[in-house]
Amino acid sequence: MKKISIIESKDNVGKEVTIGAWVANKRSSGKIAFLQLRDGSAFFQGIVVKSEVGEEVFQLAKGLNQETSILITGTIQEDSRSKFGYEIVVKNLEVIGESHDYPITPKEHGTEFLMDHRHLWLRSTRQHAIMQIRNEIILATYKFFNQEGFIKIDPPILTANAAEDSTELFHTEYFDEEAFLSQSGQLYMEAAAMAFGKVFSFGPTFRAEKSKTRRHLIEFWMMEPEMAFMDHEQSLEVQEKYIAYIIQSVLDNCDHSLGVLGRDREVLENYTKLPFPRIFYDDAIVLLNKNGFDEIKWGDDFGSPHETFIAEQFDKPVFILNYPKAIKAFYMKPHPDRDDVVLCADLIAPEGYGEIIGGSEREVDFEALTERIEEFGLTQEDYAWYLDLRKYGSVPHSGFGLGLERAVTWICGTEHIRESIPFPRLLNRIYP
Ligand code: 4AD
Ligand code: MG
Repeated sequence: MKKISIIESKDNVGKEVTIGAWVANKRSSGKIAFLQLRDGSAFFQGIVVKSEVGEEVFQLAKGLNQETSILITGTIQEDSRSKFGYEIVVKNLEVIGESHDYPITPKEHGTEFLMDHRHLWLRSTRQHAIMQIRNEIILATYKFFNQEGFIKIDPPILTANAAEDSTELFHTEYFDEEAFLSQSGQLYMEAAAMAFGKVFSFGPTFRAEKSKTRRHLIEFWMMEPEMAFMDHEQSLEVQEKYIAYIIQSVLDNCDHSLGVLGRDREVLENYTKLPFPRIFYDDAIVLLNKNGFDEIKWGDDFGSPHETFIAEQFDKPVFILNYPKAIKAFYMKPHPDRDDVVLCADLIAPEGYGEIIGGSEREVDFEALTERIEEFGLTQEDYAWYLDLRKYGSVPHSGFGLGLERAVTWICGTEHIRESIPFPRLLNRIYP
């Protein structure tokens, strides 16, 4: 007997096959039982007709509890009433693993309950759709950067120095030394760019941020390209091209998942049209002040209501350029004509999703960078290797970081970032 997964139904119409699956739901009458089946590849229906299978198999099917795992044998046929388009007419079934009192029933559950049962919640259609889209974005990221001539370089996760805000580090022991979990691979990616030209990384990063918002995770995945001989303007072009590419990939390959999530394709299609608008930080402050945000003044960082307001002025993601030097990281290059702002941009997603990319041109001058490191209360010795990059053939270079889960949340149109990663680490949660 040919063993297939549900997604392969379309190539097996009329054939007798075996499928390993779980019972997501079930309804039955005296003569026929409908099993909602899932196997991870897709969801579809199994039909068990009493007069075809006999009393014993029929009673077995009728008695199946939610999430029982089974092996079914039957014939695939087209099913025009379902969106998936196929179903299986069951001949025989065998229980593999029983399931009693499955905690997540088809009724509504509260968020905390679902989060406590995240290990089971992942089995639902909605979580399935989100993870499919997450996977598509990861796949598209690898494709895009490889096509563009980048090479993937993996920075370390255990590090000896801070890349971003040193107050948000997770401390750990490295034998007799103090070490941290990586907040960003950037500094290592700069070294890699000097070795390989165009590089990107994709890995977990950690921030001990005491933020409890719908946009913050403690552990999240970041994609960080770094490009030698590239100024910031060229980096913005890579960024918008990359965003359009991942959205197009999701539109092309995740139609079913977008449907499950009720995400409007037309809204997403608009985000593939380039270029994205740009606004200077200075002008964004003026815009906010003119529109009732009186409290914010030049030099302040934006809060999420500010970012949302700015984003609402455009129908696509918007770059906010050249922030004040004092509120950005030590490695950013100051503007050539004025010393109070740096050559950087945050890309703000529409629809209230906030910052999805942070990027900048890097300071390449040895003296200037040494000064910045000291201004930030960091030590030259700790950053000696990083400063070396400015001693041996220093070149202009730029890079950026995309938060994978922010992108997934936005593209899926989901309310909270917690659903965008299989096992979210939040301020008050490390279980399960
Ligand atoms: O703006 P950030 O802090 O930039 C960096 O780390 C740079 N070193 C990147 C670079 O230039 N190579 O973080 C980059 C992105 C943010 O725009 C956001 O999408 C995401 O990472 N991010 C978070 N996502 C979820 N939870 C958090 N706590 C996040 N902090 C940042
Ligand atoms: Mg940022």
